[in-house]
Amino acid sequence: MSDVKTQYEAFPYPQRDPRDEKKRLISGSPSHPLEMDHHLFGGMRDWSATTRILVAGGGTGDALIQLAQVLTTAKKAYEITYIDLSSASREIAEARAKMRGLTGITFISGSLLDAAKYGPFDYIDCCGVLHHLPDPQAGFDALSAALHPDGGIGVMVYAPYGRTGVYPLQEAFGALTKGLPPEDQLKMAKSVFAALPDNHPFKRNPHLVDHKQSDAGFYDLLLHSQDRPYGIDQLLEALDQSGLQFAGVPQPYLYDLRRFAARSDALDDAAAMALAEKLDGTIKTHVVYARPKSAAMRTAGQTGRAIPHLKGMNARALAKAVVAKGAIPVTLNGVTHQVEIAKAAAPILAGVDGRRDLATLQKGAGLDPLAWAAIWPKASRSLEQFGLLLYSRLLA
Ligand SMILES: C[S@@+](CC[C@H](N)C(=O)[O-])C[C@H]1O[C@@H](n2cnc3c(N)ncnc32)[C@H](O)[C@@H]1O
Repeated sequence: MSDVKTQYEAFPYPQRDPRDEKKRLISGSPSHPLEMDHHLFGGMRDWSATTRILVAGGGTGDALIQLAQVLTTAKKAYEITYIDLSSASREIAEARAKMRGLTGITFISGSLLDAAKYGPFDYIDCCGVLHHLPDPQAGFDALSAALHPDGGIGVMVYAPYGRTGVYPLQEAFGALTKGLPPEDQLKMAKSVFAALPDNHPFKRNPHLVDHKQSDAGFYDLLLHSQDRPYGIDQLLEALDQSGLQFAGVPQPYLYDLRRFAARSDALDDAAAMALAEKLDGTIKTHVVYARPKSAAMRTAGQTGRAIPHLKGMNARALAKAVVAKGAIPVTLNGVTHQVEIAKAAAPILAGVDGRRDLATLQKGAGLDPLAWAAIWPKASRSLEQFGLLLYSRLLA
C-alpha cells in the first residue's frame, strides 16, 4: 500500500462525525454550485438538465455533501461520482450522505487517474488532492481527459508562501519517524513539536491551524509523505499542459498586482498574479476554476437575465452599510480591506435575493439604462473581486 493510502486509511481527512450533518452544512471553495456556475459557465448554466459531477479524491465528503445538498435543496437533477483511494474516508462520506438522505451518488474506491472511465463530467471538483500525487501532472491530465468539452473543473492545491514553516518540519518529522506506523509517527512528531522554540517560523505563522484542530489535521499538515505546493504561475502552467485554460478564482483581488504596484505591459497574466502572490505572502491554498481550451469563455453578469447572489451577506444589511459609509469592511486571510461601493448602488443591492435578474433589479430601482450603466457594473465588479457576489440562475 502506498504511504498516502496508508495515511488516509489511518487518518481520514478532514476528521468528520456524520452525526454533525444534523447540525450544520460545511460550505467552502471550490464545490459550491453558485461559484462554479459564475466562474465556469458565465452564471448562465442551464440547470434543467442533469449535471454530471465528479468529486475526485473526495475524502470524508465535504465537497460531495455541499454539492449534493445545495442541488437537492434547489431541486436540480444531478449525478455525482465520488472517488477516493481511502475506503475509511469513503465510509465516512457515505455515512454523511445517508444521514442527510442524499441520493444520486455513486461511491468508488479507486484512483482519480482512472477518472475518464466514469466520465465525461460537466464539473470536476478536486480539492486538496493533486499536490499529494507522486506525479501531479498525471492527475491534472486525467481530470482534463474526463471533462465534457463544455465542462469545467474546480481545483484546490497548496500554495507555498502562506505555508511558511511547514516544509522544513515535514522533512524533519519524515526523517525522524521513518518506518513507524502512522499512529506512532503522530505520537513522536507531537512530542518533538512541543519542544520547538516559540519563534519557529511555523509557530509564528498565524495562517496555519489544521494541526490544532485534530490528529488527522496534524498528520496532514506536518507528516504528509507527499506534498508539493504550487506558485500560482506553476498551477496555471500545469493546467495549460493538461489542455485547460484559466477561468477564475473566488477572490481575484488577492492576485491583483495593482494592489501593490503598477503593472508593466511586459508582464503576462500569470507572471503578474505570481508577483501579487509573493507580495501578499498570506495565500496558503489556490482555488482555481478552469475550462477545456476549446470551450468558449463567458463573463458573468453580462445580460439582463443574469441573477446575482450575495455570498455570506444579508442584502438589506449590506445596502444599509453602503448608504452609511460608501464602503464595507471585508477580511481576507486576516487582513481587513475597505471595499468602496457607490451609495447609489444601495437600492439595487437591497433587492438582490438570488431570484431577481438584473433587468428586474434595474426596473425595481427605477433606473434608466444610462444611470444603471453608471452604477451597477462598478458595484458588481467591486463585490466580485472579493468573492461576495456571484451570478447564477440556480434558483430561477
Ligand atoms: C487532503 S485529503 C482531501 C479530501 C477532500 N477533497 C477535502 O478537501 O476535504 C486528500 C484525499 O485525496 C485522496 N487521494 C490521494 N491520492 C488519490 C488518488 N490518486 N485518487 C483518488 N484519491 C486520492 C486521499 O485518499 C484523501 O482522501
